[in-house]
Amino acid sequence: AAIKPLVAGNWKMNGLKASQAEFYKMVVGISDEVADTVDAMICAPSTLTALLAEKAGKGPPAIGGQDCHTAASGAHTGDISAEMLADAGASAVIVGHSERRTDHGESDAIVNAKAQAAWRAGLIAIICVGETEAERKAGNAVSIVEGQLNASIPDGATAENTVVAYEPVWAIGTGLTPTAADVAEMHKAMRVNLEGRLGSEGQAMRLLYGGSVKPANARELMSVDNVNGALVGGASLKADDLLGILAAY
Ligand code: G3H
Repeated sequence: AAIKPLVAGNWKMNGLKASQAEFYKMVVGISDEVADTVDAMICAPSTLTALLAEKAGKGPPAIGGQDCHTAASGAHTGDISAEMLADAGASAVIVGHSERRTDHGESDAIVNAKAQAAWRAGLIAIICVGETEAERKAGNAVSIVEGQLNASIPDGATAENTVVAYEPVWAIGTGLTPTAADVAEMHKAMRVNLEGRLGSEGQAMRLLYGGSVKPANARELMSVDNVNGALVGGASLKADDLLGILAAY
């Protein structure tokens, strides 16, 4: 069966209660036809999870979180558990975004534990990987990403409970994107890696590309082999841009 693509917006640390008006434009702007072809999701800051989930109803878009703690509850001031996100109406959570890996020192082992926490709460884990500019220039992009896949994705990953997002760090928020050929090479390598480890689940798993995706480049990037959707930062804040990216399908 063909893989249904996913376009997930990551609002990062953006969005106030007033943003629900823009969000509602997304809810009403996603036609049944688009919804049949592509899944849409907004990963909002956790202050807005419940509000947007209520606004979305059954969706689309689905609602996701941007990070979760490994524990279900406890003495972890300022943290949010996967169970809390699920309770607020989320169906997925991003783990291992490069901004978390950099700003909060998250290792592959921590990302792996967070993905398992997401599953425990019934959430889809959107596991992020990607090389830095220096790693790409040194010719190590594929081996770095393979190492991240091996260590960040827990055993038991399925096409249902896991989405992988390839985000070259140097393409995030910069307006730079890899060439279609570079994206094809990386996504092929990821597919081979995941199939080798997970068999048919790895074959059916959604592999997103992220990094400066916009309506103007979405069609080209989304048509690359083994690219099954996008993880979108800046362009997911505006309904017109998000709908423009969905229109690539
Ligand atoms: O999670 C989203 C990515 O980090 C991409 O962000 O679309 O603003 O480059 P961007």
